[in-house]
Amino acid sequence: MDNKNQPIGIFDSGIGGLTVAKAIKEVLPQERIVYFGDTAHLPYGEKSTAALQAYAIKICNVLLSMSCKMIVIACNSASAAAFDLVKEYVGSKAVVMNVIDPVVDYVVEHYPDQTVGLIGTRQTISSNIYRQRIHHFQKGVSLKSLATPLLAGMIEEGFHHNQISRSVINEYLSQKELADIRSLILGCTHYPLIKDEVEDFYKGKVDVIDSPAIVAAAIKDKLLEQGILRNQKPARQDYFMVSDYTQSFEMSSALFFGESVQLNKYPLWE
Ligand code: SIN
Repeated sequence: MDNKNQPIGIFDSGIGGLTVAKAIKEVLPQERIVYFGDTAHLPYGEKSTAALQAYAIKICNVLLSMSCKMIVIACNSASAAAFDLVKEYVGSKAVVMNVIDPVVDYVVEHYPDQTVGLIGTRQTISSNIYRQRIHHFQKGVSLKSLATPLLAGMIEEGFHHNQISRSVINEYLSQKELADIRSLILGCTHYPLIKDEVEDFYKGKVDVIDSPAIVAAAIKDKLLEQGILRNQKPARQDYFMVSDYTQSFEMSSALFFGESVQLNKYPLWE
């Protein structure tokens, strides 16, 4: 089946995945996206593996019913907990991408034999997924990681670029767990929203890795490789669903994609 013209499905718990969706649209403006924000279950970073797997399968069913040619798990926590399961579940119906592997590929290529830091939610850090994937390449990358659970909630609440966010960020980044790193992976899709504050802390001494841009480039490569890259602009607009209306998602989706964005409520369990 020629499914070039089918949309790319993207999901996350809240506004974090919008950073990935935006990067995808910048690299691939001709693609149509269908976005699912599982706002009824945010934050994903504090949920169990079993819960994240159950949400992911439900959302995949929604995205598959909309004939998505690709499903992007735009959340590190859900990528860590559910990628293998989702890939098996979806099979040949769609290509499944996560937000961890492209960043790991980038890190092992650009920072061999160096020390790289990672911050993320408790779910992502305790899964050890980045360490396992990096270790697999045997490029001498040494990983130092720290769970920073306050950050996603803080960002979701709109607390960034102020005194509160600066003190929380400074407190976390000063921990000995992150000492002497050469670069830092922002291992949560919310964190690009505070990338410049993180860069201000390091004053150019540490490279802060731009995960959404790296993920978007990997998605383009995958679409090309699979022969499903769309050539023409879509006639239909991008489509946004949420499992619950939240003010922060409404504000962020308008900020990222313009005031005309319409949110369609799609409860997962009703
Ligand atoms: C979340 O959605 O709560 C966390 C996002 C992430 O882990 O990337």
